[in-house]
Amino acid sequence: MGEEEMEEVLKTLPVEKLPEGIDICFYEGHWYRSVFIHGIIKFQQHFKAQDTDLILATFPKSGTTWLKALAFTIANRNNYPVSESPLLITNPHSLINFLEFDFYGKNSILKLEDLPSPRVLATHMPHSALPTSIKNSNCRVVYLCRNPLDVFISFRHFAAKLSNKPFDPSLIKESFDMFCRGVSTYGPFWDHALEYWTASQERPNKVLFLKYEDMKEDPISHFKVLAKFMGLPFSVEEESQGVIEEALKLCSFNNLKDSEVNKYEKNRRGHPYNMFFRKGEVGDWANYLTPSMLERMNKLMEEKFAGSGLNF
Ligand code: A3P
Repeated sequence: MGEEEMEEVLKTLPVEKLPEGIDICFYEGHWYRSVFIHGIIKFQQHFKAQDTDLILATFPKSGTTWLKALAFTIANRNNYPVSESPLLITNPHSLINFLEFDFYGKNSILKLEDLPSPRVLATHMPHSALPTSIKNSNCRVVYLCRNPLDVFISFRHFAAKLSNKPFDPSLIKESFDMFCRGVSTYGPFWDHALEYWTASQERPNKVLFLKYEDMKEDPISHFKVLAKFMGLPFSVEEESQGVIEEALKLCSFNNLKDSEVNKYEKNRRGHPYNMFFRKGEVGDWANYLTPSMLERMNKLMEEKFAGSGLNF
């Protein structure tokens, strides 16, 4: 699709506004932020996966920042000791970039050709919307999933920051209804989670499915699983030297949140890095949602995930 044709297509897409004021549009079965749709289509059309690529995939607010820090640390542990890790002075999003915004976005300055192989890349795209070369190549995909209730609340705080407004609890009712109807950035949530879940069941060597809650509960085991999946398992020697514990501490919520770069600096789009670090807890939704909202979400999950083996 050429630029002109793309502009014509974009004009025809259904649009909605999230209560926080963020414009989203519906493209081929999913909702995307309107400002990113151009890059999304370019990514779909032009990205050529390499067999050695690792793609980190998430629904927004599922712990992408954490996953990027963990994967970066695994991939680079022989290049930098933890005490000299770039993570001490760089936000994880600047070390592992998003395909659809950072490489293919309208004003992006990054070039995939400049990356050495093996590449570690990130995306929020649903599995069914990934470029075919990702599905046809032997590259590996790690999907980090999170309970939709926490994803929903986390996004509300994030959306307020994106819109430069204070978090407004009175918007929750309407935004919850939209989220449940699938109208959310990269939504519907269930399709996103279920597609990656199914892919991980069908091709476990190619797609690894992790849950934020499991990682919080048992970070060591899941970190080891991630390293093994990346083809870079920890050796017995590394384990006995405490490399795993040290790396997890480096990537921990408190450590990243309190670093100078994440406290005070901004990304290329002018957003402060501190917006990626809020509470980092499981179950914060309970401070915001009513019993009837919980019931609605639980019913939806039962219905959508029925028979899949996926649950929260
Ligand atoms: P909360 O808003 O619930 O605190 P993403 O990285 O996909 O944008 O997700 C952001 C969520 O992950 C936020 O959740 C944020 O606090 C949490 N988070 C960020 N870094 C983390 C880390 N190192 N460990 C655990 N959670 C982290």
